[in-house]
Amino acid sequence: MTPTTPSDPTALPLEQKAALLSGQDFWSTPPVEAAGLPSVVLTDGPHGVRRQVGDLDQIGLIESVPATCFPPAVAVGSSWDPEVAERIGAAIGVEARAIGVPVVLGPGVNIKRSPLCGRNFEYYSEDPLLAGVLGAAHVRGQQGAGVGASVKHFAANNQETQRMQVSADVDERTLREIYLPAFERVVTEAQPATVMCAYNKVNGVYASQHHWLLTEVLREEWGFTGAVVSDWGAVDDRVAALEAGLDLQMPGDHGAGNALVVDAVRSGRLDEAVVDRSVRRVAALAGYVSKPTDGFDADAHHALARELATGCAVLLKNEAGALPLAAGQRVAVVGEFARTPRFQGGGSSHVNATRVDDALSALRAAHPDLTFAPGYALDGAGDATALREEAVGLARDAEVSVVFAGLAEADETEGVDCTHLDLPAAQVQLIRAVAAVSARTVVVLSSGSVVSLEGWHDDVDAVLAGFLLGQAGGSALADLLTGAADPSGRLAETIPLRLADTPSFLDFPGEQGHVRYGEGVMVGYRQFVTVDRPVRYPFGHGLSYTTFETSDLQVRAVGADAATVTLTVTNTGARAGRHVVQVYVATTAGPVRRPARELRAFTKVSLAAGESTTVAFELDRRAFAYWDVREHAWVVAPGEHTVQIGRSATDVVDERTIDLAGDVVVRELTLQSSVAEWFEHPVAGPQLLEGFLATMPEGAAEMHAGMLQMIGSMPMRRFAADFGGAIPAEELERLMAAARAAR
Ligand code: BGC
Repeated sequence: MTPTTPSDPTALPLEQKAALLSGQDFWSTPPVEAAGLPSVVLTDGPHGVRRQVGDLDQIGLIESVPATCFPPAVAVGSSWDPEVAERIGAAIGVEARAIGVPVVLGPGVNIKRSPLCGRNFEYYSEDPLLAGVLGAAHVRGQQGAGVGASVKHFAANNQETQRMQVSADVDERTLREIYLPAFERVVTEAQPATVMCAYNKVNGVYASQHHWLLTEVLREEWGFTGAVVSDWGAVDDRVAALEAGLDLQMPGDHGAGNALVVDAVRSGRLDEAVVDRSVRRVAALAGYVSKPTDGFDADAHHALARELATGCAVLLKNEAGALPLAAGQRVAVVGEFARTPRFQGGGSSHVNATRVDDALSALRAAHPDLTFAPGYALDGAGDATALREEAVGLARDAEVSVVFAGLAEADETEGVDCTHLDLPAAQVQLIRAVAAVSARTVVVLSSGSVVSLEGWHDDVDAVLAGFLLGQAGGSALADLLTGAADPSGRLAETIPLRLADTPSFLDFPGEQGHVRYGEGVMVGYRQFVTVDRPVRYPFGHGLSYTTFETSDLQVRAVGADAATVTLTVTNTGARAGRHVVQVYVATTAGPVRRPARELRAFTKVSLAAGESTTVAFELDRRAFAYWDVREHAWVVAPGEHTVQIGRSATDVVDERTIDLAGDVVVRELTLQSSVAEWFEHPVAGPQLLEGFLATMPEGAAEMHAGMLQMIGSMPMRRFAADFGGAIPAEELERLMAAARAAR
């Protein structure tokens, strides 16, 4: 839908224009009859519609209109399947139109910098490509259904601790390579109706008033044409925010900010054109308002939520043929989460689900004789020993015990970070006790972020990580356990052995108002792989009930800085399944330290038993580039680049190396540039050397290499002063001009 507006809203009186730039309440913009503008409702998101009517609050305490709770982003990330994200976006769009919501606030594409971030369940991955591809697909789906999206939280919002004050101190290359690309992809590929700025500061400036982020990068570089909306309550200085490029303040502040805007214009401190610019953008959102449709098919959407959830869970381990469960097997189901499912996180994304499936009932349909014991109480009440012993009694008699474990919603909620990765001690004790007596033990995990598997992993035969699968997660898990569906999820985040191994450990969540992104670009698997640190399960890992092989890998360079990749994938097992082909690029070329490998493309293919298919990828220059902080640009370093096919970030099954001509970077030279930079400069270097050697004694040419090592780091200004006679100042000026001209 292309937003249109009835009449020019910038012709309105200043007071009305200012009023249009902030909410009339918690969830909507004010209607402006004079300009034919209806009120626009903006509400959460991201994995279902949370429309509050009547009393309003921000943190999900007040019930909202029933809507389908689709798998949250943590699960969608593990699907590695843009179709899952797109279908969820489309279904949310359909529901939003029925519920009367023109803009749904999502998706969230922030990077999982630490497994402790309390909102990781709302984000896709530790990898920006995966997050960006899924986020763009979600927006395409939702906006294709006529409902505006809001990609959030822009930018570097990677923790909840002090989220409204902390300054994320991130260097330019890290921002460009890790924290911005998912937003960039969503904006450039899917043009979301809105971008929501983050609460935090970025390098000392509130994201809500960050001109570089909101205007230079977002609009001037990426071409964003929609409205920037504040996270709820993120505006600190209303006028500064407006000037920086923030269009809509949400929620309203009872007119206080509007008065400041009017005052700033009247006193000449703010150009009215700035107000008009934002007025046009906010007015354009009215184009998403439509007459509510006639409800939605809740049953069909529940079925969709179930189907999609099966593509999200990750089978981490499966030994001794523990899964799928065989028909007629004596099965013991253990764990309260089997009966009382954990399927979403707490806070603003909390959806009032239309209904909720539990795995216990769904498993009973396939295994009517199964036995069940809760094993633990979610609120910690009751006699823990008695609960455990009851479960162990059932496990002893079973051929296979399925233990449901995980974290409670109260442990993973917006506004708070986690402090550890451990399952509750009672659950760990339960798993170990069951595994000690049961012929086979399967553990099913429900959590919004990764949890530690240490202390029990080796005792059990199979582990299925469901993360949070939405309202149909219980039946989806049953489908996977019984083999009605094949597991095809892959980890979108590393499962470490220890929290202390995680790259951000020493700098999370920061101190004294600052969080230093000290690990730089070495986030998640990028660091584990680069320093070869062992993990429990790597990024990209996941098993199916069938097996896949790849062959015929061909990589061809295209021009100076791109490549094509083709390969064959074969389902070598006995049943149909889906495989994720992961394409990484590894290089040491160039002047900066690169992660040992980085995900640069992926696709998920469905194959019948024995079937083969050819997959092809085009790797553009960004797949090979790093962000050069001296050029403030993407640069492809000349040299070898290895394209690798991985089953995960640590399991490379095939690779080919290509030589890329890359970019010839002609750097600017100044008197502060080092002697080495001058001599190695493609334009100035040869001329300088020639002139320099002419004035030097015999044999100086031979000394040249050694000399460069010794004095190479000396700024030219000092070198020229010391050896003044050798390089006249006018000559340096001439060479600097030549270098500049060649850029
Ligand atoms: C959250 C946003 C959400 C907004 C509205 C904020 O607290 O950070 O993600 O969209 O509230 O509920």
